[in-house]
Amino acid sequence: MNDTTRINVLLIGGGGREHALAKAIADSPKLGRLHITHPQNPGLAKLGTPVDVPVGKAEIYRLTQYCDKHKIGLVVIGPENPLAEGFADALAAKDRLVFGPNQQAATLEADKVWAKQLMRGASIPTAESRDFTNLDRAIAYVESREEPPVLKAAGLAAGKGVVLPSAMDEAVAFLTDCLGGKKFGDAGRKVLIEERLSGPEVSVLSLVDGRNIYVLETAQDHKRLKDNDDGPNTGGMGAFSPSTRIDDRTMDIVQREILVPTIDALKREGIDYRGVLYAGLMLTPAGPKVLEYNVRFGDPECQAIFPRLKSDFIDICIATCTGKLSDIDIEFDERPSCCVVLASDGYPESPKKGDIISGIPDAEAIDDVVVYHAGTALDEKGNFVTNGGRVLSVVAVGDTPKAANTKAYEAASKISFAGMQMRTDIGG
Ligand code: AMP
Ligand code: GLY
Repeated sequence: MNDTTRINVLLIGGGGREHALAKAIADSPKLGRLHITHPQNPGLAKLGTPVDVPVGKAEIYRLTQYCDKHKIGLVVIGPENPLAEGFADALAAKDRLVFGPNQQAATLEADKVWAKQLMRGASIPTAESRDFTNLDRAIAYVESREEPPVLKAAGLAAGKGVVLPSAMDEAVAFLTDCLGGKKFGDAGRKVLIEERLSGPEVSVLSLVDGRNIYVLETAQDHKRLKDNDDGPNTGGMGAFSPSTRIDDRTMDIVQREILVPTIDALKREGIDYRGVLYAGLMLTPAGPKVLEYNVRFGDPECQAIFPRLKSDFIDICIATCTGKLSDIDIEFDERPSCCVVLASDGYPESPKKGDIISGIPDAEAIDDVVVYHAGTALDEKGNFVTNGGRVLSVVAVGDTPKAANTKAYEAASKISFAGMQMRTDIGG
């Protein structure tokens, strides 16, 4: 391939999801050079050149200058925070595409009250809710309800902003902390109090190019820390793909009643949505309902889906950014995958850092296994050490869900560190 057809890519973000994205970008023959913002993640450091400027909204012009200087033709933004801060708006240029929605579009995830209003206006099925900024009114409303509700901070809270209180004192404590600004700062000063739904949960991830919606292979996340969905909520302790919970008929309903009306409603708001649209759904007896929208790939759903992706991810990004999703075919490996997250001691409350991790190469040596780094670092002796809550994602692809599951656990069993936490029932 001639060099002029290659494209330099900047990847923003530093977790397991971004390692999966980086690997897919690095596997593309279209890649010129990959630049990364988080070289402290050794998985990313191996694949890309670290940017030598600060990465933050206040100094975003430095990153823009960096992109100009290094002829970055495509920026891929992994996490929600930079999207909500408007990185996509700031980094887009005449000769540079950005994969990830603009700031206004990212409000869909960054403000749950706004997202609810949008859904209500478009009759998109979701839980009934009311929003509050006043503590006394919020408490009175919870007290007046017959069923225990769900409480949600409106803003971004790193997966910790939702509680399903089992008693009134728990609800009062959450509301007091949120609305008083003690928890989540400004992100908690508005809360949603929502009807509690029941049913299995699924994540439907799609690509949107302004007009077309391309539903990706499904994945199913396991959010609780412990086996049998016990213990506290986490960012996600594992995932498998495809999901076993969503059949073609349900997917048709999701597309017709949720995805298409969401994009239409955004259009009516003057929002041109381009990037990933992730709908977190509950399959209730009354049909699928939206729990939340995310404007990015899920973590660890991304790690479960990407080892199955056969098409060129750079092509996919370009088609998404340029309104050409209908021109490409996205191919996936038919075989299912299973992703097991290894978390550090103390996760999710107080993850312990600095514990030496052994066995990563032994896990990687197994066929059809990939290990993505999330919360890892290298110590001064060159050992991998824990450096965050979710440390590694171990993913295997197999002929059957059971085979993928067995292989992922065989690979995970090669890895160890002090206090390692792992669910044993992912995909089971
Ligand atoms: P969210 O961040 O809004 O997806 O909420 C996190 C988790 O809380 C979800 O994955 C569900 O397990 C649970 N949840 C959120 N909203 C509701 C609801 N209305 N009813 C029951 N469970 C919910
Ligand atoms: N795994 C859930 C999320 O990424 O929001």
